[in-house]
Amino acid sequence: MTDTLTIRCPDDWHLHLRDGAILKAVLPETVRHFARAIIMPNLVPPVVTGADAAAYRDRILAALPDDALFEPLMTLYLTEETDPEDLVTAAERGLVHAVKLYPAGATTNSASGVRDYRRVQGVLERMAAIGLPLCVHGEVTDPAVDIFDREAAFIEHVLDPMRRATPGLRVVMEHITTREGIEYVKTQGSDMGGTITAHHLAINRNHILAGGIRPHYYCLPVAKREEHRRALIAAATSGDPHFFLGTDSAPHTDALKEQACGCAGCFTATNAVSVIAEVFEIEGALSMLESFVSLHGPAFYGLPANEGVIQLAKGAAVSYPDRIETAEGSVTVFDPGFPLHWSLSGREMNSMSQTKLSE
Ligand code: NCD
Ligand code: ZN
Repeated sequence: MTDTLTIRCPDDWHLHLRDGAILKAVLPETVRHFARAIIMPNLVPPVVTGADAAAYRDRILAALPDDALFEPLMTLYLTEETDPEDLVTAAERGLVHAVKLYPAGATTNSASGVRDYRRVQGVLERMAAIGLPLCVHGEVTDPAVDIFDREAAFIEHVLDPMRRATPGLRVVMEHITTREGIEYVKTQGSDMGGTITAHHLAINRNHILAGGIRPHYYCLPVAKREEHRRALIAAATSGDPHFFLGTDSAPHTDALKEQACGCAGCFTATNAVSVIAEVFEIEGALSMLESFVSLHGPAFYGLPANEGVIQLAKGAAVSYPDRIETAEGSVTVFDPGFPLHWSLSGREMNSMSQTKLSE
C-alpha cells in the first residue's frame, strides 16, 4: 500500500486572495502547498490595468509569511474599456499571465464584466497574437436560463463562437462543473484548457440542498448532479493534459455566507490538496495526481514545472480547522464530507525565487 507520495510542488491555476485583512489571513493557507497561483482580479474595484496588477502583486508579496517563496501570477479583469496596449505591455514584462472574462453579473464582483462581446474582439485578437490566455467564467447570465444549464449554454452561445471568431486564442474554461464542459474541452486542440476545483470533485448538488440548505457549499458555477461530478473525476484522473487544478478557493466571511442572500464561494485553500489526493486514491488514480496538480497547468501556461517537491503522507484521518480567523471575521474551511487521510509531510522549496519583472 502506498503511504507516502513525493510530487512536484503544485500550483493553483485559479485563486481568490482578496485584499487587506482577508489576504493576510488566507495567503498562508495557499503557500503551504502551492508555489504559484493565478490570482483572480475580481477585487472591488477590479484589477483592470497593468498598474493595478503591479500594485496588487506588491500587496500580495508584502502579505507573505516571512520565509515563504510564492509567485503570484497576475491577471487583468477584462472590461469593455480594456486598453490593448496596456495589456500587451503588462504581459510582455512578465507581470500579467492571463486575462479574466466575467460575463457581467455572472458571479461575485462581476458587474464590470463584459456585456457586448463585440466590444472586446480587438483585445481578444491582440491576446491571440501574443499567446496570452483568456480565463473564462463560463456561464451565461440570461435570467431565462436555468442556473444548472448556464455552463452548457455558455459553451454553445458564447465560448465556441468566440473561439471560432478568434483563431489562435488560448482559452481556459474555468471551474468546469458539467459533462458538457468536459466533453467540449477535451475535444479541442492544445489552445484550450480547463480547470477543475477540489470542491466540484467532492460534492454534488445534493450536498447543497438535501436535508437543509448549506451555504458553505454554494459557489458559482453551482455544483451539478452526481453524473457531472463523475465526469469531472474521470477527466481529472485521466492524464489528459487539457485538465488541471484551479481551486477557485474563494473566501467570504461566515457572516456574508450565512444570511438570507449568501455569497457564492467555497474556501478550500487549506485542504484542497488533501481532498484531491483522497478523491484520486478512491479512484485508484494516485499515479495521476502529479500531472493534474503540478504538470498540466504549467505546460498550458508555457512555464516550467516547479523544481521543488512536496511530500504527502497517508495516516489516520487528518483534521483541518473548521474555520480560519481574519480581522474581518471567520471564514469556514470547506468540509468534503468524507475523511481525509493524505496530508503534507514535507516540502523542498523551489530554488527559483520570485520573477524579477522587466521595467
Ligand atoms: C468567486 C468569488 O467569490 O470571487 N465565487 C465563486 O463562487 N466561485 C467568483 C467566481 O469565481 O465565480
Ligand atoms: Zn473564481
